[in-house]
Amino acid sequence: MQVIPNISDLRQALQASPRTLFVPTMGNLHEGHLNLVRQAVAAANGGPVVASIFINRLQFGPNEDFDRYPRTFERDCEMLAGAGCDYLFAPDEAELYPQPQVFKVQPPAELADILEGQFRPGFFTGVCTVVMKLFQCVQPDVAVFGKKDYQQLMVLRQMVRQFALPVEMLAGETTRADDGLALSSRNGYLSAAERAEAPELNRLLRHIQSALRSGALNSEAAVQQLELQAQAALAAHGWAPDYICVRRRVDLQEPSAQDLTQPDELVVLAAARLGSTRLIDNIEV
Ligand code: PAJ
Repeated sequence: MQVIPNISDLRQALQASPRTLFVPTMGNLHEGHLNLVRQAVAAANGGPVVASIFINRLQFGPNEDFDRYPRTFERDCEMLAGAGCDYLFAPDEAELYPQPQVFKVQPPAELADILEGQFRPGFFTGVCTVVMKLFQCVQPDVAVFGKKDYQQLMVLRQMVRQFALPVEMLAGETTRADDGLALSSRNGYLSAAERAEAPELNRLLRHIQSALRSGALNSEAAVQQLELQAQAALAAHGWAPDYICVRRRVDLQEPSAQDLTQPDELVVLAAARLGSTRLIDNIEV
């Protein structure tokens, strides 16, 4: 695997490739990231697979973990090479943001100011802006994103459609630990006791999933009650929940009673803090 820190070298390396696959990351890689790389390799048809590692300051709020975000570059390189990645684009901030990035990609409020966007103002503007810029650098034909960040995937899909970007978007399933906890770079912040508690988030999502599948939830009020119960259950276990809610897959809006009759078009999403660590997860019904 070739590590390329600058944009012009990257463009030169990829110039002749008819079909480039791309997996953007912020590093501190785990099996979830590697499965996206493997998915890209499987879809590559001989074309190069490019990953990127860039911790994007623009998507972190002032009180978030930009400074302490784990940086494990050497290990990440070994893991990527082992998964079959051909190129790693690893720009530093001076390369990707030589001047403060003042042109930004602003996603629509109805998709980006809800759920994650409500609790992390500006987050999706930061994500869209960096992904747009990374796409300009890599010029991929196919890009792979994880369903772990479900809303991010939806926002980016819409960005690609609205700007008519010539990029095919692939979604990767969420990779989990044996106890159900979704793998995340932020899991490393958890104490042993918090790590033992952490799968509760996924257990509650699965509980809501089975209630929806059973057809027992047939009104908006019934859904709201279950959402509140789940939040209370988290709080009782020492969590500080931001949200745990049922939404329509298509637009992440609240489902009507009619929508509830088609549970396979729903998704349950959650975000909650355990100690100082904020975890997110979701499950398609
Ligand atoms: P990061 O959190 O490093 O995630 C990179 C990619 O890996 C994203 O598409 C994310 O959804 C996916 N991913 C993370 N954990 C996963 C898991 N357990 N299973 C499957 N996929 C998983 O998401 C970002 O970085 C950034 O916002 C980025 C898109 C790179 C823009 O800065």
